[in-house]
Amino acid sequence: MYCVKKIADDLTWVGANDRRLSMFEGIYSVPYGVAYNSYLLTDEKTVLFDTVDNAVRQRFLENVAYALGGRALDYIITQHIEPDHSAALKELTLIYPDVKIVCTEKTLGFLEQFFDFDIRARAHIVKEGDILDAGRRKLQFIAAPMVHWPEVMVTYDSVDKTLFSADAFGSFGALNGAIFADEVDFDKDYSDEARRYYSNIIGKYGTQVSALIKKLSGLPVEMICPLHGFVWRKNLSGIISKYTLWSSYEPEEEGVLIAYASVYGNTENAAEILACKLRERGLKTAIFDVSVTPASEIISASFKWSHIVLASTTYNAGIFVTMEALVSDLAAHNIQNRTVAVIENGSWAPTSGELIREKLSKCKNINFLQAQLSIKSSLKAPQLEEIEAMADAIAASFASIEAPGSKSGQDVSLSGVDPATMFNLSYGLFVLTAKDGKKDNGCIINTVTQITSNPNRISIAVNKTGHTHDMILKTGGFNVSILSESAPFRFFEQFGFQSGKNTDKFAECTYSERTANGIRYIPEHTNGVISAKVAESFDYGTHTLFIADVVQASILSGEKSLTYQYYFDNIKPKPQPRKEEKAGFVCKICGYVYEGEPLPDDFICPLCKHGAEDFERR
Ligand code: FEO
Repeated sequence: MYCVKKIADDLTWVGANDRRLSMFEGIYSVPYGVAYNSYLLTDEKTVLFDTVDNAVRQRFLENVAYALGGRALDYIITQHIEPDHSAALKELTLIYPDVKIVCTEKTLGFLEQFFDFDIRARAHIVKEGDILDAGRRKLQFIAAPMVHWPEVMVTYDSVDKTLFSADAFGSFGALNGAIFADEVDFDKDYSDEARRYYSNIIGKYGTQVSALIKKLSGLPVEMICPLHGFVWRKNLSGIISKYTLWSSYEPEEEGVLIAYASVYGNTENAAEILACKLRERGLKTAIFDVSVTPASEIISASFKWSHIVLASTTYNAGIFVTMEALVSDLAAHNIQNRTVAVIENGSWAPTSGELIREKLSKCKNINFLQAQLSIKSSLKAPQLEEIEAMADAIAASFASIEAPGSKSGQDVSLSGVDPATMFNLSYGLFVLTAKDGKKDNGCIINTVTQITSNPNRISIAVNKTGHTHDMILKTGGFNVSILSESAPFRFFEQFGFQSGKNTDKFAECTYSERTANGIRYIPEHTNGVISAKVAESFDYGTHTLFIADVVQASILSGEKSLTYQYYFDNIKPKPQPRKEEKAGFVCKICGYVYEGEPLPDDFICPLCKHGAEDFERR
């Protein structure tokens, strides 16, 4: 029995849903099914926009027959030849022997590859800009190459301002009785599937999707009819702006996607700990086991989040199988403009980190963080400092982390404990240094306080995961270099974002000054140095509180002391504008970008085969 939906007086949805398909295109799980849309226009001419997949062909043929109401079918517009939209073509020509197939020359070539009946004899060839007069409606063809295949075109009806958009603006998910996006809570219930569809199916072709959106921008559109998912008749800007964002490869949200591949749970352990540390820093996180979650979901998440952490064990001297597939997929889908950190694991030769970086190095604008973690079999307590350092580096790379105390405008609550309140304490910032044998080390702290002047005693609270902490606990001696406002950000990278357990934090220093206790201090961008000897220590869980006698104190400069607030306002880097695109030329037909100057006169677009005359400077 037919199942159709009227979407306008002379326009009927004659598609069908498939909820039994487990893998779309053999790769993408579709737990909510998929809709194959086809539309029948019953104007003076009867015009069918595409057909459907083989799986739903029978229902579709019933739908077309019913919607035609006994009329003949005059035209089938083949906007996209891919078999999920053309599988019923042959039957239609048998049922409606006079039907013409409206397509481009390129589409015809593909049709002849897929089918074995005489298509050329019934082809009505069109090209960009041509108009098919259906009667009241005038149907204009617009090339959309590589959205998603090279032959794709979309069709614009300038009378009712309807865009038949082929694969563009589509979504995974069967239509559950509703046909219009405004009949459901799309943002809540369907936007993840829309992103998963976009990113996996046409995510690779962002440039071409952008080119199509640009082409369409001058056309008034009141309804969008895609080949998958809902029809849009309200809030069109919602789906268009999503496609605009996704095609630009800019993230939707600031947050960290953590994907891990773990054999015995140890790489997973590191990923989980990092996620906790990032949450402690107020960052959003999403975490996936790449051996469990379908790659299409992680690809979709990579289009959503601004930061990506990839954690993989080493396997057969390479990246673990499922992670290797994911990284290849990320590169194949042209992921761009992301900040990436890597965690590797390996029992005898961890190599997965470097290999992941190498694979992703082909992608544009990937900001690899210096902080990385290399695990030998399982994480050990000393490496917690490295995870803290990685979490710090990730947090520091965020564009919009709130500066401490920046909660103005929110309601004030006088109950509970808001951890952000602690940022409003007027901390200073210091480099804490220690020495154990020949090894020097240092870290950044904000917890130096004078507790008595006679005897002159100070307290410092030091994180127990740090190497400096262990040195002080062992030797009982340390120096505090008081940072001044001229301290550069590199000091924080040098002493704060890496672990002294596997790094010589002083390796790049041009100075080598020490106080009388033999411990190094920082003579630059500081205004004082205090040497102290531990009198007592108290274990406070994450930190040790050291009470220490001051044994030497010297003023180094007249600069103002650096406060935590000053650091956030003036030293921590602000978001950087994206790098300017290289000079180049864009194909006006398909959006292919030629990078370089000049464009050779005989250049042929590798995608749509148009010549240099169809390129414009970008
Ligand atoms: Fe739904 Fe590119 O086919």
